[in-house]
Amino acid sequence: MEQYVIKGGNPLVGEVEIGGAKNAALGILAAAIMTDETVTLENLPDVNDINVLLEAIECIGATVQRIDRHTVKINGSTIGVVSVDYDYIKKIRASYYLLGALLGKYKQAEVPLPGGCNIGSRPIDQHLKGFRALGAKVQIQHGAIVAKAEEGLVGAHVFLDMVSVGATINIMMAAAMARGNTIIENVAKEPHVVDVANFLNSMGANIKGAGTDVIRIRGVEKLHASTYAIVPDMIEAGTYMFAAAATRGDVLVKNVIPKHLEAITAKLEEIGCEVQEFDDAVRVIATGRLGRTHVKTQPYPGYPTDMQPQIAVTLALAKGTSIVTESIFENRFKYADELARMGASVKVEGNTAIIDGVETLTGARISAPDLRAGAALVIAGLAAEGVSVVDDIVYIQRGYEDFEGKLRTLGAEIERVSSEKEIQKFRLRVG
Ligand code: EPZ
Repeated sequence: MEQYVIKGGNPLVGEVEIGGAKNAALGILAAAIMTDETVTLENLPDVNDINVLLEAIECIGATVQRIDRHTVKINGSTIGVVSVDYDYIKKIRASYYLLGALLGKYKQAEVPLPGGCNIGSRPIDQHLKGFRALGAKVQIQHGAIVAKAEEGLVGAHVFLDMVSVGATINIMMAAAMARGNTIIENVAKEPHVVDVANFLNSMGANIKGAGTDVIRIRGVEKLHASTYAIVPDMIEAGTYMFAAAATRGDVLVKNVIPKHLEAITAKLEEIGCEVQEFDDAVRVIATGRLGRTHVKTQPYPGYPTDMQPQIAVTLALAKGTSIVTESIFENRFKYADELARMGASVKVEGNTAIIDGVETLTGARISAPDLRAGAALVIAGLAAEGVSVVDDIVYIQRGYEDFEGKLRTLGAEIERVSSEKEIQKFRLRVG
């Protein structure tokens, strides 16, 4: 098991380059198998979740060819089975995007039902409601979702009961090759939803309205080859923006779309950071102690749930009392007890965390409860006095490429280690 060992207290200063969006790439990889022609995907992040989905795609028979660290060619003409192994769903829930992709292309699919995960119970009833509306017979059999549309899929009018990124993407994929027109209302507007729609359109789909509340799809018979570059990762970018804020640093975050970061930028400015926007970069400058604020997570363009732990850690060091409300997932405050071990004053009541800012945090041994909370605890370690050890970093590796390497270029003292001996060596070295 690997850990991060961190000597905190240095302001992060310098430039960092953001990679492709993991959550866009997961949808796009699944959609790539919907054509029998070869698709080239660029700017793929080299993170565990992506690599597991690539394995799942290979396992159903598609050809996957790695061109370089961030480029892959996929050919779906060799797919032999339409059922996905449970191992993949266990490792990464988003393998369920293969349900929409396989159902859209082959009119049948079998994918194990994902269970809950660390951040909540995460039902997928809206995905299934959409498939049913398109004419598929969907059953749960022996722990798997078995979907079949013997007469083919037919365009339909779907109204989502709640805004869901996953349901929007899954239904959009299935409808791309259905007969006739589909309208999906109350859809998610996240940049990754737009990116999957743009990618499908680049393969010949006819999808309009992605990024608004209503998506309209005119089904096409076939999709074709495409070369497509994944959109920059707004959550990776936001994580470095808050790392700059919490450590009172000065960081230029490059290769981003500043428009996607507006909710994050607004909160940083509210707590006293200076944020400069450029064409494809943002610079965050934090001098002195930051101020308090209240924040509530919401679907895009609201403040993202995937950025909730990072702002909470920053507010733990701000002056005054802040209230953080999580309205998307029920279990996203698991970092609070870990943060308290570093000296933070965080009280969680239901879906709200009340944070009384303290002047300093002190390094401690803490453990990453999930991907974003793990990244946030690393930020806490970077801002704290002394040495922190973060366990269970396998969660962080699911979604951040070379996290420690990028942080080191910003002056962070952080190492990835895999034994107590290495931790000891680090402690001796940093004194
Ligand atoms: C996506 O999850 C992201 N994952 C999550 O990223 C992100 O936190 C989340 O969207 C919200 O932005 C991927 O894109 C792979 P939802 P998803 O469906 O699609 C409820 C990260 O750290 N709901 O938008 O699973 C659900 O329980 C992560 O990268 C239903 O009730 O999220 C939640 O309360 C983790 N029924 C809300 O809707 C459904 O059928 C939004 O979930 C679907 C969702």
